Amino acid sequence: MDTQNITTVRSLAEGFSYVMDLINEDVNDHHQKVAYISYRLAEEMRLPEVACRLAVAGGLMHDIGGVLKNQTTTMADIEQNTSAIAKAGAGILKLLPTKAPLSEIILYSQSTADRSETTDIHSWIQKIKAMPEHLRVPQYARLIGGIVHLADVITLIFDENASVLNQIQMVYDILTCAPEGHFHPWVMDAFKRLCKHESVWMDMLYEPSAFLQFIPESRTVSLDKLAEISEFASAMIDFRSPFTAMHSSGVAATAVELAKIVGMSEDECKMMKIAGNMHDIGKLKIPKEILEKNGKLTDEEFNIIKEHSYYTYMLLKKVDGLDQIAEWAAFHHEKLNGSGYPFHLPGERLHFGARILAVSDIFSALTEDRPYRKGMGKEKALSILYGDAQRGEISETIVSILDNNYDRINSAREKASYKAGRRYRESLNAAE
Ligand SMILES: [Fe+2]
Ligand SMILES: [Fe+2]
Repeated sequence: MDTQNITTVRSLAEGFSYVMDLINEDVNDHHQKVAYISYRLAEEMRLPEVACRLAVAGGLMHDIGGVLKNQTTTMADIEQNTSAIAKAGAGILKLLPTKAPLSEIILYSQSTADRSETTDIHSWIQKIKAMPEHLRVPQYARLIGGIVHLADVITLIFDENASVLNQIQMVYDILTCAPEGHFHPWVMDAFKRLCKHESVWMDMLYEPSAFLQFIPESRTVSLDKLAEISEFASAMIDFRSPFTAMHSSGVAATAVELAKIVGMSEDECKMMKIAGNMHDIGKLKIPKEILEKNGKLTDEEFNIIKEHSYYTYMLLKKVDGLDQIAEWAAFHHEKLNGSGYPFHLPGERLHFGARILAVSDIFSALTEDRPYRKGMGKEKALSILYGDAQRGEISETIVSILDNNYDRINSAREKASYKAGRRYRESLNAAE
């Protein structure tokens, strides 16, 4: 695949499901299952293809608010805080570069059914089909929210260690006892019909990636689009903690400036931006108490932190076409003298892009403001970076390029951090 179309929507969706599993640690493939059942329900209701695909996206993303609200999110947290998590999720999804009404779907996925539609589903679909295109898709948001809500509950009732076919009746009995109006009646009707399809339930429980078949392989993602999506990913990472609310954006901006100065191509600069935005995405798995610990980490805590760049690597390697970006992003704690982590790669395995990212990461961490301290000034930051370079850890060439272009690079970093800080506050407000 050329860099214009760097990957596919399907492959990104698979990567995204890995990210959701990082956030929610005690459920196996929960989001994949909800995505799968959501599609099946939408299809059973004869919704148009665009709405069925939105149901997959809604199912995959429905707990994304856990990033903002709870740090080590468990299903118990989610059940107790559904509306707070939905609001947080809706806030964060507004940053995703898409016109699809994902925020609305997430909000509706946690509210009980609105039964204002007095007509039957088929005349309702006909009515929507007659609307101009830009009005059509948002109409489906409420119904898809209802679909995701039911799919979410269904998947939580099934016991994954027991035979699935022996559980369908039990799930049916529980759901049909729900208080009147809790589930959307059209969605419930579709569920009742779906109960007869054994393969649907076996797919759900035994084939976690079954939802991927609903995303056409032919839908590609351009490098530009991926760069935009990576901004959303950086928000997810940074928003976990006000301590690092601007870190990934600062790293990306620094890395891009350095890449431009050393003459990397335009496409490579975009890849560098993606790598910068995603380099710490594995931190989604690290408990907030450790990320925010004020004071020295214990050896055990530091071992847990060290896992984050490994997860970054595993995620990015999963997505087709991102091999280069995976190396630039995930090797940011490797050192030229082999003393870094977690791969202990020798210097010659660290491509120039990875070296730029390692310097950008340290530089941003030193100079960005944190709630408990001001960022470091030029002299101090450079003396630490030169010290690291002299110990053979990071590239002295890149540190001196940073030194020679300090104002330009630092102001790009500050601008990006300022923008990210504003974005962080806006999303928090939306989540209130
Ligand atoms: Fe890191
Ligand atoms: Fe970092």
